[in-house]
Amino acid sequence: MRKNRIIAIDGPAGSGKSTTAKQVAKRLGFTYLDTGALYRALTLLALKNGIDIESEGELVNLLQQSKFQLQSQGDDIRIWINGEEATEAIRSPEVSRAVSMVARHPAVRREMVQLQRRLASQADVVVEGRDIGTVVFPEADLKIFLTASLEARAQRRLKELHEKGVEIALHELKRDIERRDAIDSQRETAPLKKAEDAIVIDTTELTIDEQVDKIVQAFRALAEQRRKSSDASGVKNT
Ligand code: DC
Repeated sequence: MRKNRIIAIDGPAGSGKSTTAKQVAKRLGFTYLDTGALYRALTLLALKNGIDIESEGELVNLLQQSKFQLQSQGDDIRIWINGEEATEAIRSPEVSRAVSMVARHPAVRREMVQLQRRLASQADVVVEGRDIGTVVFPEADLKIFLTASLEARAQRRLKELHEKGVEIALHELKRDIERRDAIDSQRETAPLKKAEDAIVIDTTELTIDEQVDKIVQAFRALAEQRRKSSDASGVKNT
């Protein structure tokens, strides 16, 4: 049986998943796994190698031959692809535009799910993505689904990209996000979907601290509830 604790955070692009997940992990002393970074890494590699992102077989081959390493450093998550750092490169608008097409392929997702389960097997972990509560860890201890208005999500992405020196117009970002949401939610395999037992948090009007507080409180309440019920069953058994 699994011993490590898992918090699954899913939601659309720009809903605040990454920042929230990182801080929840920090507050609880968990590690953090950004599954979108893995799909982005494969996409970057495919674009660099001139591999057709429509070709499921070629993408799976590429994934099987590649080594991805993730490392959390303070608030940053760094990624290396076959030994070469790609932390910034996986966030480029080109990768953002192509990644949903790569993530549509069922065989790519099967490989990715195995990889994600392996990466999350060692420690208590906050895992963030689109299908974490539904497919990757349906038995997660706590499932959160973050949402926010399109306007709020685009504004957040714009700020992030501007801070990194990437110039892009708000209307372009909105269009890209809408397109990505549509592909991610309508694909046949593991679409972006709220797990039935997930807690929904609309972050449009919330600060990051408020989002983090809500999740940490939900997790602590759950841990307390479990402790009480195991105490109670202990009493019954004696
Ligand atoms: O969270 P992000 O924007 O970095 O994710 C990039 C893309 O990867 C997203 O458009 C859909 C895909 N993705 C996915 O299909 N399943 C996941 N668990 C994580 C990301």
